[in-house]
Order: sequence, then structure tokens, then C-alpha cells
Amino acid sequence: MKKIQGLAAVALATALLVGCTIQGGHETKVEALLARMTLAEKLGQLQQLVPSGGNITGPDGGVLDTEELIRAGLCGSILSEQDQEKLLHYQKIAVDSTRLGIPLIFGYDFIHGARTTFPENLALSCSWNPELVERTAAVAAQEAAAFGYHWTFSPMCDVAIDPRWGRVSEGSGEDPWLSGQLSAAMVRGYQGKDLSSPETILACVKHFAAYGAAEAGRDYNTVDMSELMFRDRHLPSYKAAIDAGALSVMSSFNDFMGVPASGNKWLLTDLLRDELGFNGFVVSDYNAVTEMCAHGVAADWKDAAGKALNAGLNMDMVDGAFVIHGEQLVKEGIVSEKTIDRLCREVLLVKQELGLFDDPFQYGSKDKWENDVYRPESIQTAREAARESMVLLKNEGVLPFKGTERIALIGPAGASKSYTTGAWSGMAEPEKAVSFLEGLQERFGSVRYEQGSSDFEAIEGGIQRAQKLARQSDVVLMALGLPSDYGGEAASLASIDIPEAQRELFDAVAATGKPIVLLLSTGRPMTIAEETERSAALLVTWHAGIQAGNALADILSGDFNPTGRLTITFPYSLGQVPIHYNHKVTGRPNPGPQATGRYFSRYMDVPNEPLFTFGEGLSYTTFAYSEIEIPEPEIRMGEDVKVRVKVTNTGSVAGTETVQLYLHDLVASTTRPVRELKGFERVTLSPGESRTVEFTITPELRSFCRADMSTGEEPGDFEVFAGHDSRAALSTRFTVR
Ligand code: NOJ
Repeated sequence: MKKIQGLAAVALATALLVGCTIQGGHETKVEALLARMTLAEKLGQLQQLVPSGGNITGPDGGVLDTEELIRAGLCGSILSEQDQEKLLHYQKIAVDSTRLGIPLIFGYDFIHGARTTFPENLALSCSWNPELVERTAAVAAQEAAAFGYHWTFSPMCDVAIDPRWGRVSEGSGEDPWLSGQLSAAMVRGYQGKDLSSPETILACVKHFAAYGAAEAGRDYNTVDMSELMFRDRHLPSYKAAIDAGALSVMSSFNDFMGVPASGNKWLLTDLLRDELGFNGFVVSDYNAVTEMCAHGVAADWKDAAGKALNAGLNMDMVDGAFVIHGEQLVKEGIVSEKTIDRLCREVLLVKQELGLFDDPFQYGSKDKWENDVYRPESIQTAREAARESMVLLKNEGVLPFKGTERIALIGPAGASKSYTTGAWSGMAEPEKAVSFLEGLQERFGSVRYEQGSSDFEAIEGGIQRAQKLARQSDVVLMALGLPSDYGGEAASLASIDIPEAQRELFDAVAATGKPIVLLLSTGRPMTIAEETERSAALLVTWHAGIQAGNALADILSGDFNPTGRLTITFPYSLGQVPIHYNHKVTGRPNPGPQATGRYFSRYMDVPNEPLFTFGEGLSYTTFAYSEIEIPEPEIRMGEDVKVRVKVTNTGSVAGTETVQLYLHDLVASTTRPVRELKGFERVTLSPGESRTVEFTITPELRSFCRADMSTGEEPGDFEVFAGHDSRAALSTRFTVR
């Protein structure tokens, strides 16, 4: 702190002597500015601070005097300030009262909406609808910008397969390619076509890298994997978002191949910039620079700052290590001023792209924030997103309702608004959300409700009242699950069962013999084999956002025919984790439950198969697949191959099917997954209607990390599967010469 005061005094004195603001053309403007900056000021641009009143989400935060540092030109960015006036006040200081008038960039986690909350990202991914996902991100950007924010820390591109990790809710599921498609859509939504527009904001690809593989699903935990696994399973998702033009990346908390990401030169420079061609800037995760001390790879904050700067980290989130130790590091020759120049230039160029130098106040205003959020079309997008996210996994004919049933709604998620917002819900106002009860009453009239139990505890007389209501009804909707804050950051769980109090409630209601429709509100897969067995229908509603209740009513009434498909596996039991559809074969694959003999890769006590697999999800109609064909089944390396498949609506109502295409490389230089998603297309069909869908498998889609660690294709035979989910049986083959 003492050191900072010293730096502040120097910068302040210089400011009084020089006093001017920036003007001029584009890149040259940044160069000209850089030439006039002191080392302390350059380091200031590399510092992000969280004000003491901001949203503090780490052990430390708000410890530095934000205002003093801004005034001294020693702060480049502010994180999570929730007071709009303060935000504008800080910008005024930066622009009007510092020597060079460099505007601040304001960042906050608007990851699934700002005011208008959308389903959590995992839920959104179950829509398999990039266009819709892009629209949700565009709404989030418009509203965040209306507050005055320029930057969101999204998309989270981490591919995650462990439901114990609370942050599975923030990602787009277990498939690297699909996660990449949806992450890229988010980048397009946030950044739009013109980043300098006051309705678009900067996206941030996080958490670079491989954070989704935190050991044992415990947050902040170590990550260790082969380079091959990383390149095949994790990198493609980040790469797709970077290729979509994201201009910021966040380094993750975890170590990667033994070196914490924020000080990992291979990750931040060799891979990210040199190989992937990223040309924006990298911010650390919260305190992640100084956490290198706890990781045991830095002796102290100064050592940590040096390692981060030399690795290519542009901006230090919160802890202050760069402004405190940066000058000394340069003086001692540990970090070169050239490195600082480059890091600073990259930050300034993005500020320029955002239009901040042209008009630092064009983004938010009180008026915009009060009057230009919750636009009707944004609310409509939230409703579409919620109903397209919900996944129907079982239906013994009880759904959709005919409209004549006496409907009971039971369970803690039934009338709750906080269940709708989900984790990390930006600046959501839960009171504005439509609860399940409200949505259902609006649609069906007399839906009766009983809470039955709280999230984790029984409530007095709750079970008896719930049973009584069930007996007076024809069908019971049981709204169970985990509350919003049981997902997201720092929300790891060692059990993903429905909490005991809710299970007791379920048992008691099931004992009445009334048909149950289980509505599962969750941000992660849960172990629900028994409850599924005893329910007539199961709809995973997730934490569905501000329009949760209306979306549910759309589905239960049949006004909307469900289209959601799982993007993450629901295990049969927690002991199967990690479990995902795109696993490798092994030398002793499971020959199936009928096969006797012991020495196979399988469990003695549970099946290898999950309860629900990737891609799974029902509709109120049925679809059949036929006539899979490859017109030219022999191609050369570098050529595309076309696959066609016919899909028919064999039911009695119109519906939308997500036709999925999977590939299996039969022999390669490295072991390949049993199958990998390589294409999907949503088709809407009337009863009896058929459509032939054509996919193109490009050389890029056939590429993988080969034995020499290079990425590319290999000749050989491939099996292609097309159908409803990752178990699709219809297949054919092609050969690459
Ligand atoms: C920590 C989280 O890991 C990250 O995702 C988030 O963006 C930052 N905090 C800022 O809130």
C-alpha cells in the first residue's frame, strides 16, 4: 500500500504538470499514447480493481483504494461495481482528472443475461440452437451496456464432464465441438458486428485452460492431463470462440501441466497467441496471479507478478501485484519494458475497438438502465430460450395435458422465483421472474400449490398437506432439485442426489399412487434413477430464467412441443463419474450386459451406461431415420465427404427434431473416442413429413491430435452414425485415401 501511494504521488505530480487528453487516428493513436506513458501508467493499464462496494468473490478484494489509483492513472479496469453512479464517477476521474485521460474498461459477469435472465448456459446449450444462443447474448450485451458495462466474462468454454463441479452450469456441456459452436455464437452475440456500438460489449473466453477438468469436480482444484487429451477435448471449444473474434481471454485458476495458467507461457503465448493467433488481451481470474504463491510456484507477489507478465498475461484481476511490483521488476531486468509495452498496447487497442477513446460515456446512463431493459422482444427471447432449453426425458403419455386435469404443484421449486435465476445471474431481479406456479395458473387456471418441504429440510405438516393435495388431484407436478446458489462457482458437491427432505416428500406423494410429473430444477446432472422410475414423466427444467413459468406452461399445455436435447450425461450413479458419451474404447470394451466373464472394462454393480445420455430428449411426436447414404464413400485427404439421412415425423403432431451426426475413426495413430458429434441440424416436420438432411464432413472435422502432437487428419476408414442421440444406430462408412 505504501508503495502504491508513492506511485500515485509521482503520477499525480506528472498529471498536474502535463494535463491533456488523447486525440488522433487509430493504431497510431495508441502508439502515440504509449510513447507518452510512464512505466507506472503502463502498468496501471494492466491492473483491474474491484472497488470495496463491488461484488467480491474471492478471499481478497477491494483492498486497494480504487479511487486513488484511478486518479493516479494506475488502474485500467474496474470489476463488478454495482452502483451505476460510481461507475460513471470513476470514468469521469479517469478521463478528466488523469494525466492522459485514458478511459477505464468496466467488466462484470453477465453470463446468462443482465436484467432479462435467461436459462443458465448449460440449459441454453440443450437448445442446440446457436441462433437463439446468439440472441440471448446480444440481449445481455445491450442491457449490460445500458448500465455502463463494456465487458462480460463469458462465454465459459470449459468442457466439463463432472457433475460434482458446480460450474458445469456455466458451460455448454461435454462435447468440445458443440461447446465451441455455442461459445462462438455467444461471442457473436456479445460483440455484434461493431464492437464500438453502445449496444455491444467485449466477450471473454474463459477459463483458459482446461478448468473444466478440475480434479474430482472440486472448484479451484488442480488439472492434469496429457497434451493430446487437452488438444482433442478441451482446446477446440476455446479455439472456436477465439476464431469467432473474441478479443479477451481469461486465464484460469488451475495449474496446467504443472504451471498455473496465469504464469504459463506455453498457454498464454506459445499456444494462444502464436498458434491460435489471438490478438486481444488476457485477464487473469480473480487473484489468480498472487495465488501462484499458494500453488507453490512463486515465492512472493513480486515473483508471481514477474512470472505472469513474462508469460503474457495482460491484466491482473484484483490483487494489485502488477502496480505494486511492476516497476521494480523492470528495474531489476526481470521483465523488460518492451514486454510491458506490448501488454499495454494490447489492452489499449481493445479499448480503442470498444470506442472508448471516442466517447467514454456513450455506453450506460441512468435513463437507459431504467428504461431500456426488459424490451418486449428480450422477454420473448427469454421465453423461447427457456422452453427450448427444457429437456423431456420420460413421458408415459401424461403430457401434454388435455386441460381438464386437476393439477397439483408440489415442491420447493414450484412457487420460488429464486430457483429461476440460476447461479451468477448478473443483475437479475428475481421478483420480476414468472414462477412455475404463476405461469401454470395463468395458463391452466386453478393449479393448486403446496411447498411440501424446503430445499434441504422438512417443514412441519408439509408432507401431510402435500399428500392431501395429491389425493385431490389427477396429476402431480413435483418441482424438486437444487437451488440456484447450489451451482456455479465454489459450489462443488460430493452427492448429486435430490436432497433428502425432498426425496422424503417425493416418496410420500408417490405413495398416494397419483401420476407424478417430475420437474427437475438444477444447474447440473443429478442422480435420479429411482425418482425417474417412479414418475410418469420427467422434464428437466433447469434454472430457466425470467420466463420460467410461462415456458413451462407452453410445454405442459402442448402449445410448444419440446425440442431440448441433453448436452451432458446424467449418470446412473455417481460412481460412474467421469462418464460421457465420447469416451475411448479401451482394449477390453464392455461386450454388453449379457456377456459373461469378468475381465472387461465394466462395473460389477452398475451398468456402464448412464441414466440419460448426450443428445437425448423426447418430443410429443416421434421420428424415424432411414436411408443413410454417402454418395462418394471414397475420398482423398483434404476433401469433403457428404452424408445424407432421411428423417420422418412418425407421430401425430408437428415437431422439431435435432438430427445428430457422429463419427468414429476406426484406426488411427492415437486412440479415438467411440463416437464424436460432427454435425447437427434442427428440422421441423409435420406429421408424416420426411426430409433428407445433408451433412458435410470436412477435413477439419476429421482432424485430431495425432501421435506426433500435430493436429490434422489421417487416411483410413470411418463409421458415421446419424440419428436422434449419441446412441444413433443407423450407420454407414467411408474411406479417406
Ligand atoms: C471468478 C470466476 O472464476 C470467473 O469466472 C469470473 O469471471 C471472475 N471471478 C470475475 O467475477
